[in-house]
Amino acid sequence: MYRTHSNGELNASHINTQVTLAGWVQKIRNKGFMIWVDLRDRYGITQLIFDEERTSKEVMEIASQLGREFVIQIDGTVIERESKNPNMPTGDIEILVKNITVLNKSLTPPFTIENETDGGEDLRMKYRYLDIRRKPVRENLVFRHKVTMAVRNYLSEKNFVEVETPYLIKSTPEGARDFVVPSRMNEGQFYALPQSPQTFKQLLMVGGMDKYFQIVKCFRDEDLRADRQPEFTQIDCEMAFVEQEDILNTFEGLTRHLLKEINGVGVSEFPRMTYDEAMRKYGNDKPDIRFGMEFGELNAATQHKDFNVFNQAELVVGIAVPGGNSFTRKEIDALIDWVKRPQIGAMGMVYCRYNEDGSFKSSVDKFYDQEDLQRWAAITGAKPGDLICVLSGEAHKVRSQLSALRMELAQRLGLRDPKVFAPLWVVDFPLLEWDEESQRYHAMHHPFTSPKPGQLELLETDPGAVKANAYDLVLNGNEIGGGSIRIHDKETQSLMFDYLGFTPQEAKAQFGFLMDAFQYGAPPHGGIAFGLDRLVAILGGQETIRDFIAFPKNNAGRDVMIDAPAPIDTAQLEELSLQLKIKD
Ligand code: AMO
Repeated sequence: MYRTHSNGELNASHINTQVTLAGWVQKIRNKGFMIWVDLRDRYGITQLIFDEERTSKEVMEIASQLGREFVIQIDGTVIERESKNPNMPTGDIEILVKNITVLNKSLTPPFTIENETDGGEDLRMKYRYLDIRRKPVRENLVFRHKVTMAVRNYLSEKNFVEVETPYLIKSTPEGARDFVVPSRMNEGQFYALPQSPQTFKQLLMVGGMDKYFQIVKCFRDEDLRADRQPEFTQIDCEMAFVEQEDILNTFEGLTRHLLKEINGVGVSEFPRMTYDEAMRKYGNDKPDIRFGMEFGELNAATQHKDFNVFNQAELVVGIAVPGGNSFTRKEIDALIDWVKRPQIGAMGMVYCRYNEDGSFKSSVDKFYDQEDLQRWAAITGAKPGDLICVLSGEAHKVRSQLSALRMELAQRLGLRDPKVFAPLWVVDFPLLEWDEESQRYHAMHHPFTSPKPGQLELLETDPGAVKANAYDLVLNGNEIGGGSIRIHDKETQSLMFDYLGFTPQEAKAQFGFLMDAFQYGAPPHGGIAFGLDRLVAILGGQETIRDFIAFPKNNAGRDVMIDAPAPIDTAQLEELSLQLKIKD
């Protein structure tokens, strides 16, 4: 037997017990006549003591040669510690070691295996298995497991059945690029890795599974960010015979359950907001509603004077920054530079101080008097002591710029408390989205999403105005889930493909299987998929999903530990009937 106990469980009640422990050497303090070793495993740390007077010479000798991260096994007696450590569960005791076996030696690790390590991100990714030995990383993985189990148990109890769907499929159009896999047996042909199991889960509804879920890997070849990985995990769900209301209620239930079970937080409200309202009030379809700073549209309150910048703008819009009047001139100038960075792209920023005495001082005093500025304050909801920040320009762009500024300021002002959870349903998304690059409409969610009843006709006259039965679940400013009620008849689905620019032949070649299935009694159905990585990160009070993935990719999409992607050899290429031609 390698061990009788873990390194996290021994305490004063075990004094005088004979134990066998195993684990990694975390720390060694060698005084010659006495050696202390911190022994670590997943469960904690136990202090070992080797004492010249009570430990054999042979064992002392081995102990004196231990190095960090050696794997050892010891036998000994639990004794009371002389200087206790109240911060450790095992801090009252130590183990007087009788026997020791070195199970494996270790090279000196390239960074310290401590809560606060000296290793940079790159080094830690290269030696991820060592990083995982560190408590914060390990705890994140355990946390993820807990969330995953809670999800499985909840859904299973609600009669959802977990069904696995294939990874080697044909491309599903979810808006990103596919990762493709060449087929050896079908020369010149490729599988695609699923961007999501979308069409399969719909086919499971046609197959009568009624309530499906799957905790499933999805693959998308898209640019990476803190909340995006090329392979990530969804909690993918689908239900038959449901309307939007049923889906929202069911998954509000799941989210409530998780917040209660994992975070001990009861959420009283699950507000809903239409996409249009979210864009108008927050310039964003995933607003963080833990704090205010709602947008105030200032066209009418600004365009009556000679300030051409505003007069020529499609939209003039501002926010009131709580307490922002305390910002120095230098700080405000830095903010202006911040919004002018290419990543944000604003032309400039007008500001107005709301002094405690009720007077205003703006950067455009030449054009606007106190009465004008009072109106700005009323519209943005500013109070004495606040700072009003105003941007102007093309509506769509200026909303997204002000939204970025709102989030940045909230972060700086500490308004984004990770312990506060504010879920929000954003509903009534547009069905279509104009794509500048290809100069045509794309499905905003995916082509299987149904338009709102009675809106199909609008497709002819005003396609951009058609609303869909599509919804996102937003938590603290992050899109943690999205879904829709689906089209379930062949005619509407063909019509949809037609509007999206597919020829009937293309639609048949790519999605004939789905439209065929719709002819055999497809039930009305709909669903949602949560991003598990994002959900876990946010419940864990963070936003970087990499920290909750055991073996993540870096920002260039590389796994620096196994060094992937990598070239394959010529024989392998030949077997796949592929020829490599690298453009220079
Ligand atoms: P959607 O594309 O909105 O919907 O994806 C669902 C959720 O998955 C998460 N997500 C990601 N997480 C990490 N890295 C990524 N690259 C990434 N991309 C998406 C987000 C998102 O809300 N088939 C539909 C669902 C449906 O209609 O039922 C779908 O995939 O949290």
